[in-house]
Amino acid sequence: MNKLKKQGLDAPLVPILYIIAGLLALILSVIFYKYYSGYLWTVFYGLIMICGGLIFIHTSIRGKIIIWDSILSTLTIPSDSQVLDLGTGHGLVLLKFAQRLSSKGHATGIDLWHNQDQSDNSLENTQNIIKTKNLEHVATVMTANVLELPFEDAKYDFVVTSLALHNIKPANARKSALNEANRVLKPQGTLIIVDTGHNKKEYLSVLKANGYTIKNSKTYGIVGWWTGPWMSTYSIIASAPIKQ
Ligand SMILES: C[S@@+](CC[C@H](N)C(=O)[O-])C[C@H]1O[C@@H](n2cnc3c(N)ncnc32)[C@H](O)[C@@H]1O
Repeated sequence: MNKLKKQGLDAPLVPILYIIAGLLALILSVIFYKYYSGYLWTVFYGLIMICGGLIFIHTSIRGKIIIWDSILSTLTIPSDSQVLDLGTGHGLVLLKFAQRLSSKGHATGIDLWHNQDQSDNSLENTQNIIKTKNLEHVATVMTANVLELPFEDAKYDFVVTSLALHNIKPANARKSALNEANRVLKPQGTLIIVDTGHNKKEYLSVLKANGYTIKNSKTYGIVGWWTGPWMSTYSIIASAPIKQ
């Protein structure tokens, strides 16, 4: 459990609560099965909850990596690219881009380091991860809010965000975040959103209103389920217009 926590488990309370609820249901059905004829439904509920919790953990530690590897395999990333990762957390996506850059390129990750969104989330922790991977020359992290990016207009070739935007509420704030992403992205730069939480249509409509070309939009199967198919992961790859 400690290893999982250190690795950066997304929304750690969710799978813990699912698994606890599932185990409680199983224990109660074993204790009370003689007195309660519908106990098989409680067993079923318990198993669903435990499976949901385990699927969530799998998506967090393995599934989202598979998703990002599949996205990156479709991209051409010039080695001098300037990359910005919004809500970088432990730097999963930041590091994947940084590994593809030369010293002329750079990947910057920003975050507010919320521990409820990812376990062991801190600036120092992610700085240490970058150091361990020997990527300090091409990757840096800093504390900043997605809603107020401390960068000049049209600075980045790629603006990416992984499972961070759904944490921003309400919808107007998410729209502001996308407008900020748009501001710092170069004309014809690439914006990549990977997220969960039923906001795909909302993101697509903001991007289209800003003149973006949608290159790819996809919803993933069990590899991206956060407990079950009712909470799946989707991706949008979009290209900024020539003139913004
Ligand atoms: C679920 S984690 C995902 C982290 C990482 N992108 C990944 O895929 O592993 C969401 C991240 O978004 C960050 N976050 C949430 N709201 C933010 C905001 N307004 N500005 C910057 N970061 C934010 C959280 O602190 C957290 O690190």
